[in-house]
Amino acid sequence: MRAFGHRVVDMIVDHVETLRDRKVSVQVPRAELDARLGSFTDAPASPDAVLDLVERDVLSAITAVDHPRFYAFVPGPGGFVGAMGDALAAGFNVFAGHWLAASGPGAVELQTIEFLCNACGLPPGAGGLFVSGGSMANLSGLATARTVKLGGPDASAVVYLSDQAHSSIAKGLRVLGFASSQVREVACDANLRMDVAALERAIAEDRQGGRRPFCVVASAGTTNTGAVDPLRAIAVSCRAHDLWMHVDGAYGAAATLADRGRAALDGLDLADSIALDPHKWLFQPFEIGCVLVRDLRHLRQSFSVHPEDNASYLADVGRMAEREVVFYEHGIQLTRAFRALKLWMSLRIFGIAAFRAAIDRGIRLAEDTEHLLRADGRWDVVTPAQLAVVTFAPRLGNAGVAASNARVERAVERLTADGYAMVTSTQVRDRTVLRFCLIHPDARIEEVRETANRLATYCSGD
Ligand SMILES: Cc1ncc(COP(=O)(O)O)c(C=O)c1O
Repeated sequence: MRAFGHRVVDMIVDHVETLRDRKVSVQVPRAELDARLGSFTDAPASPDAVLDLVERDVLSAITAVDHPRFYAFVPGPGGFVGAMGDALAAGFNVFAGHWLAASGPGAVELQTIEFLCNACGLPPGAGGLFVSGGSMANLSGLATARTVKLGGPDASAVVYLSDQAHSSIAKGLRVLGFASSQVREVACDANLRMDVAALERAIAEDRQGGRRPFCVVASAGTTNTGAVDPLRAIAVSCRAHDLWMHVDGAYGAAATLADRGRAALDGLDLADSIALDPHKWLFQPFEIGCVLVRDLRHLRQSFSVHPEDNASYLADVGRMAEREVVFYEHGIQLTRAFRALKLWMSLRIFGIAAFRAAIDRGIRLAEDTEHLLRADGRWDVVTPAQLAVVTFAPRLGNAGVAASNARVERAVERLTADGYAMVTSTQVRDRTVLRFCLIHPDARIEEVRETANRLATYCSGD
């Protein structure tokens, strides 16, 4: 076991240490992989032989989302401490479903959740739960909104979100049984933030039409551009109309730890529920998201199923619910991994100041990148640096938007094949744009410049 474990640790450390010198993006066709991996057999194999295979043919065939030049989608710079936290949680096979099974881990989870609630400015009585990621956190927040505001499914209920909201919101609503006609897309202003006047009009129209508005989903850092909806004004509307305010801060809410992030997220503290992903901007290995609620009792109201109803084998645990938190009553999962450990250990080992500095650094790096792009005559900055995201496209010449869009697509393909860095595109109004997401704590401006230069070359078709 020790030799096996030491080799695994060595593999992880080698990965981290050599990352910067390696290609960012690697894809291998299925047939080739199958041929290399072979198949299951009745006979056992030596652990070393299997680790050889994993190292040579599995983990070599990944796009390194933790690479310091991975600027695509949302980077995943999960750290070594976090990985060791996961190893411990798995090694002890902690069942983090209730206090009877795991009181120490329960205390760690509660401390970590309280830390995040405080960071978001939620009042005493707030709480939350670690889940697999932002999609589950959004689903949990929306399910809670429905329980609290509607009491259950209601075909006349309406939920509001902007056209910049993450697709996991629409998916969560579909899973919960909402028809698309119950999901109202509110227009955005010129800065791709929800237009609150349009929201007010939509609510009024729906009320007049006999519908039942119950929830607004605001984005705290859209994936596309990093835009933050006007959270304070949305909260005022929600209070005035007795609507639940869910904030999808899966990407951006963690920025509240840094002063500039907190300023950008003004009004986050007024949310009824928040999705926040430590596996994004808190630098943790996948999977760790969390749902935070202003009033913890609302999670229990939404997810508690009484043992006497149909889970009598849990009755002994259920009785503890009066004294201690029973995590499975706060969410969908019964058996849950001890996700909190990696974040708790990272916060303790590095200290909060290191997180604050790393987040601030990402915000500033995006601003420096914006300046760099503006100074270089080849680009239009399409949306400015916001929460570490900046979008840009080749300067529009006589060729027009369609030609620019095609050049962006070609540049993404070529950069991916080149492997120096990874950048993906997105759509901002009618333009296909390139997008830098700069949250990696070890991202460097010289490498961003080199990436922009390569993109310019690939865009021009040379
Ligand atoms: C704003 C936002 N919300 C939700 C999600 C979904 O999170 P996950 O992929 O962890 O399920 C993402 C993922 O990038 C996101 O950026």
